[in-house]
Amino acid sequence: MTTVFQPGNQYPVLLGPLADTFPQWMAQRNPSGVLLLTDSNTRKHCLPAFLQASGLPSDTPVVEIPAGETHKHLATCTAIWEQMLTARLDRHALVINLGGGVIGDMGGFCAATWKRGVDFVQVPTTLLSMTDAAIGGKLGIDFQQVKNTIGVFRNPGAVFVDPVFLQTLPERELRSGFAEVIKHALIGSVELWETICHFSPTHLQACSYEDWHHILRLSIDVKVQVVTEDPHEKGIRMLLNYGHTIGHALESYFLETEHPLTHGEAIAIGMLTESWIQQQQLGKIVPEEWKALLLRIFPHQKIPAGIVPEIWQTMLQDKKNKAGSVRMSLPKSMQLDMELVEPCEAEILSALEAYSLLQV
Ligand code: GLY
Repeated sequence: MTTVFQPGNQYPVLLGPLADTFPQWMAQRNPSGVLLLTDSNTRKHCLPAFLQASGLPSDTPVVEIPAGETHKHLATCTAIWEQMLTARLDRHALVINLGGGVIGDMGGFCAATWKRGVDFVQVPTTLLSMTDAAIGGKLGIDFQQVKNTIGVFRNPGAVFVDPVFLQTLPERELRSGFAEVIKHALIGSVELWETICHFSPTHLQACSYEDWHHILRLSIDVKVQVVTEDPHEKGIRMLLNYGHTIGHALESYFLETEHPLTHGEAIAIGMLTESWIQQQQLGKIVPEEWKALLLRIFPHQKIPAGIVPEIWQTMLQDKKNKAGSVRMSLPKSMQLDMELVEPCEAEILSALEAYSLLQV
């Protein structure tokens, strides 16, 4: 049961059991060496299953970095590049990124810059990276608390998506990734929306391998359509940032506190508040079912109004901005149709106040 996507006819995204995809792909390659990048979580929970399914030798060199977004910075890249040096990794080697968004973004970035670029593949182990981060060639790291500020576009050799790894995820992480699935439904798939619109946290926990395969097939399809049309984010790819202008700023702010938000929790608030601004500026009513689904999956968070000046400063650094104004990309329909809004700081405050009133 393998589904194959080909973003821009550049590389395969293979959705299905790793044992059916990875060994065959590898048999057509002859890398001079292989380096596996993991973090402390994926080494423990995913590496044994990966080695077994991939057919790679158990003594394949492994580089382990600490888990979490707080380590997605230059100092960790230096540690990875040092290990590449020690392993004498030449330009004909292959780097395998086994993990979530941080491993894929940072491992891909280290590979893309190593000796001006060495091949890499993405083996995402979280829902977030399976449906979004691992696909589309965006690689990078955070810099001075601004997310994904240093980076490059470079496509992987392949992406291997095996929903089996979702069984290893804590419940909060699974919900986090589901925010990107909801986003893909809202921007580009009525079929996906109809599949998930009734979901609750209990449904997420109860999904079988086949359920995830179905949801991922629809969700990845949206991502692949977008990056095929606009690989370098000159236009429609900005729509994948729905919820991320406010969401990233909230995520960065809370990362520095004792109560960090997951990416999905921050993006869910971002989708609700950005849609509220779209409603105020352009009169597009946000359907009640959208709000209901987001609030069922992501419990309401208390966002103090006093943080707005600080998150506004972060939003001023957003990559979509042009000529000094903050820009948000929002869906016009569920058919990959985008409109941009340019809010001011006072509107962010009002949107967060409106979010506070949504509490049930
Ligand atoms: N995650 C957003 C993008 O790939 O453009």
